[in-house]
Amino acid sequence: NRSYEEMVQRVWEIKEKLGDTLYIPGHHYQKDEVIQFSDITGDSLQLAQAAAHNKKAQYIVFCGVHFMAETADMLTTENQKVYLPDMRAGCSMADMADIDQTERAWTKLSSLFGDSILPLTYVNSTASIKSFVGKHGGATVTSSNAEKMLKWAFTQKERILFLPDQHLGRNTAYNLGIPLEKMAVWDPHSNELLYEGDLEEILVILWKGHCSVHEKFTVSNIEHLRSTKPDMKILVHPECTREVVELSDYAGSTKYIIDKIEEAEPGSKWAVGTEMNLVNRIIQQHPDKEIISLNPFMCPCLTMNRIDLPHLLWSLESIEKGEEINRISVDKEVAENAVLALNRMLQHV
Ligand code: 13P
Ligand code: SF4
Repeated sequence: NRSYEEMVQRVWEIKEKLGDTLYIPGHHYQKDEVIQFSDITGDSLQLAQAAAHNKKAQYIVFCGVHFMAETADMLTTENQKVYLPDMRAGCSMADMADIDQTERAWTKLSSLFGDSILPLTYVNSTASIKSFVGKHGGATVTSSNAEKMLKWAFTQKERILFLPDQHLGRNTAYNLGIPLEKMAVWDPHSNELLYEGDLEEILVILWKGHCSVHEKFTVSNIEHLRSTKPDMKILVHPECTREVVELSDYAGSTKYIIDKIEEAEPGSKWAVGTEMNLVNRIIQQHPDKEIISLNPFMCPCLTMNRIDLPHLLWSLESIEKGEEINRISVDKEVAENAVLALNRMLQHV
């Protein structure tokens, strides 16, 4: 059992020893004890772009969740190996769309709408879902480019199937001027389209998935804040529900949230609706502004938090010993089509 200081020192030693052959990307939702070692910190778009550009690193130790490590593996070369320090760091949203459900949904939707649908998937999805989407001409999106990608999708087909986050899909489509009446929800459990009007009217089909962290920011959190601290601005991530986004002052991706606070006037007051580690970091970085979490209980992403200093060190020490523990390696056939979907996004941003 090593102390925090001993572990920190060991990580620095290994980083120094491996030099440019080691690359540690860290998502903004990661803990500080991990982020202090990241070679790049970013949202999911920035980390995907960084993985695609990095040609030097032999070992990529991904501090984020499973789908992000899969994306990094698919966007790097065969000689570059990607590791996830804890295999339990998944994403409950990504797990809400599996490939069998998606194939079943596609069969049924094709019988209802013919070939008028293009699939889009949030990067928060498994490699198999990205592969399915790539095979059918669609693309991935992140919260930073969802609007741009949805616009592009409508140049390709009449209607869009948006996987797996109904909230990001709904909020994005709404921002593009699509009325809620023209959006239907696909329930993967009952294999049914939840819609009561004329099917011809539907423009966007939203997969019934959600982020368990961002769903914790509620209308009652907002009502409470408006009555107790009316001078606070509310800033949320678009994985929050439509109702929450509607009542907030601003909504945008992780990067948008960071930039918004960065640009804000000293003395300004903010309630932020996103993952706890990021909110805490923003609070520390901006002592001149009053910043709180929109949900007073703070909302951690439990799976992101599984990557901690002991796991990071364990992963680095196993690489040092030449072992291949917790390597993320996406099946070649799956990766081939998934990369099509990822590249359709990367060439638009
Ligand atoms: P972004 O990094 O695209 O903002 O996504 C947030 C998120 O939930 C990552 O899992
Ligand atoms: Fe998944 Fe939500 Fe956690 Fe992001 S914050 S990894 S979407 S559960």
